[in-house]
Amino acid sequence: MLYEKYGLVNTTNMFGDALARHYAVGAFNFYNLETFAAILGAARQTKSPIILAVSESALKYISDDMLMAIVGGAHITPDENVALHLDHGHSFEACAQAIDLGFSSVMIDASNLPFDENVALSARVVEYAHAHGVSTEAELGTLRGREDENTFSDTELYTNPSDAADFVEKTGVDSLAVAIGTSHGAYKMKSDKQELRFDILAKIMNYLPNFPLVLHGASSIPQQFIQTINENGGEIKNALGIPTDQLQRAASTTNICKINVDSDSRLAFTATIRKKLAESPSNFNPRDYLAAAMETVYANTMYEIINIMGSAH
Ligand code: G3H
Ligand code: 13P
Ligand code: ZN
Repeated sequence: MLYEKYGLVNTTNMFGDALARHYAVGAFNFYNLETFAAILGAARQTKSPIILAVSESALKYISDDMLMAIVGGAHITPDENVALHLDHGHSFEACAQAIDLGFSSVMIDASNLPFDENVALSARVVEYAHAHGVSTEAELGTLRGREDENTFSDTELYTNPSDAADFVEKTGVDSLAVAIGTSHGAYKMKSDKQELRFDILAKIMNYLPNFPLVLHGASSIPQQFIQTINENGGEIKNALGIPTDQLQRAASTTNICKINVDSDSRLAFTATIRKKLAESPSNFNPRDYLAAAMETVYANTMYEIINIMGSAH
């Protein structure tokens, strides 16, 4: 397996353990040295399995070789339980490219296509991935909000539970992202009383017992970062995330094995840089404010690993 060269593992054993012991593995997106070091550092500090997630646009931003050099430079070992995952791959080619680079897990997101086309494309990726020992994720249903730089969905289509079972059987996929009311970005809920559709999740679990499910758009949007951003020249109004108690419930009482977080790290990073620069207007040393931003992402990732995922050992 190519990814073994980097000390990475696929998600099969991670999800088996998460199902058996009722927790979730955090999939945290990164896109530069600072976010990579913060997220991996938090996982190491808490002795937690971790999924390092890279979107297609993040891969384009860092570049293939630079990304793999950064991952290689971290000297990851298999006992650390680290997976490198392509987040929202939109084509067979994007998934195959990630696998050929050394990713240990890929998501094919064909959820915008009609059911049969989603099945066909996902099955093709699964076949290629499995031939390389790589684990797979696909998506059924649509999440509101910005999924990445190329896709925007303003409709919300919950996952149909019986379709989910049919989809998993036809594709052979290893995990499934479900739509139960989460959404990407910083504007997820109209109020903190709003509930995720745990009733739909329960029905999906009836159709797919013991099968790893994935929650996208699961940032909790910590309000202290929003406040710091707004107090230091930013303007992010009325942002609201998924309440942490609902995420804890998903991680500890359901078959949600993977919880995706990107926006929280972006907010932590941005809030810190805004504050640092506002506090010392004459500072022009990026190592100063980037180190501080990295530290905030590290602390927030540790907090979420311990208090939301429940994956610290
Ligand atoms: O769910 C998608 C992630 O937040 C990735 O976003 O394409 O801007 O890196 P990005
Ligand atoms: P957030 O926007 O809630 O962080 O979602 C992240 C995600 O789903 C990445 O795939
Ligand atoms: Zn997502």
